[in-house]
Amino acid sequence: MASATHPPERLKVSDPNSWDTAAAQYNNALGAIHLISLTETLEPPLLAPGARAIDLGAGTGSLTYQLAERYPQLPILATDISPSMLDQLMVNPTANITTQVADMRAPVVGAAGEASFSHVFSTMAIQLLPDPAADGTLMVWARLLIPNGIVAIGVWDFDQNCRPHALWAEAAVAVDPSYVNPPLVIPGHWNGLAQLEDGLKRTGFRDIKARSQHIGFDIGKEEFMRFFWESKNPMTLDRQASFKGDLEKVKLEMGRLLDEVYDGGRSIPLSAGLVVGRKPRVD
Ligand SMILES: C[S@@+](CC[C@H](N)C(=O)[O-])C[C@H]1O[C@@H](n2cnc3c(N)ncnc32)[C@H](O)[C@@H]1O
Repeated sequence: MASATHPPERLKVSDPNSWDTAAAQYNNALGAIHLISLTETLEPPLLAPGARAIDLGAGTGSLTYQLAERYPQLPILATDISPSMLDQLMVNPTANITTQVADMRAPVVGAAGEASFSHVFSTMAIQLLPDPAADGTLMVWARLLIPNGIVAIGVWDFDQNCRPHALWAEAAVAVDPSYVNPPLVIPGHWNGLAQLEDGLKRTGFRDIKARSQHIGFDIGKEEFMRFFWESKNPMTLDRQASFKGDLEKVKLEMGRLLDEVYDGGRSIPLSAGLVVGRKPRVD
C-alpha cells in the first residue's frame, strides 16, 4: 500500500482537470441502477423507437454500462470533460456506446444536438457545479431533450448518512482533536437531494419524482483503504490536504475503525439522492 504523504495543497474538487488523474482507478457503480429504475417509471420508455440517451460527466461509465447492458439497442453518448475518463470508459465498450469530450455546462455540441435525446442522465457530477439551476445549466440540459423527454440525475446525499466522509473525520480527529473537517461541498454547490429536487422545479421540469436511496459504500476494508489513500480521487486528496498532522497515524486509525466499528468495511452507510423529471414546456 502506498505511504500516506501530504498532497501539496487543497485541491479544487470543482476543477475539471483534477479528475483526469483519477481516471485510471475510478470506479463507481453506486446509485446508477436505482436511477435507471426510477427513470423507468416515466414515459417515454427507454425501449421506445427512436429513444436515445446521453450521460453527462459519465466518468468511466458507471451509469453508461448499466444502461447499455439493460438496453442493448439504446444508442448512448457518454460525455465527460476528462479525455482520460472516456479513454478508460472505452477500454471494453459495448456496440451501443459512443463518447464525446464535452463540458456539461455547455453540452449542446457535436453529436449532442438540440432536442436529440429522449433521456439525459447524469450521476455524481452535477454537484461539481455551483447552483446549476441558477446559472442556467439545467435549462441547457433541457435543450438536449425532445418534447416530453426525461432528465435523470443522481447526487451524493452529503447531509444524510454519509459515513465514508464521517469515517475520515473520526480518524483524523482521533489523531488531532483540534482538526476541523472542511465541508465536503464547496459553499454554493448542492449538498444533496433537497437542493437537486428544488433545482429541477425552479427550472420548470415537470412530473418530478425524487427518492433518497441507501446505497452503502460496503466495499470492505482493503478496498476502502485503497480508495481513500491510493485512488487519487480529488475528494479524498482534498481531505488529506486539509490535515496538517501525521497522515500515517490517521491511516492506522482509519484501519482500526474499519475493523472495529464498520464490520471490516462491509457496513459503511451512504445515501444517494435521485431525481427524474420531464422537459419543461416551451410555450
Ligand atoms: C464523481 S465523477 C462521476 C462519474 C460518473 N458519472 C459516476 O457516477 O461514476 C465526476 C465526473 O465529472 C466529470 N466532470 C467534472 N467537471 C465536468 C464538467 N464541467 N463537464 C463534464 N464533466 C465534468 C469528471 O471528469 C468526472 O468524471
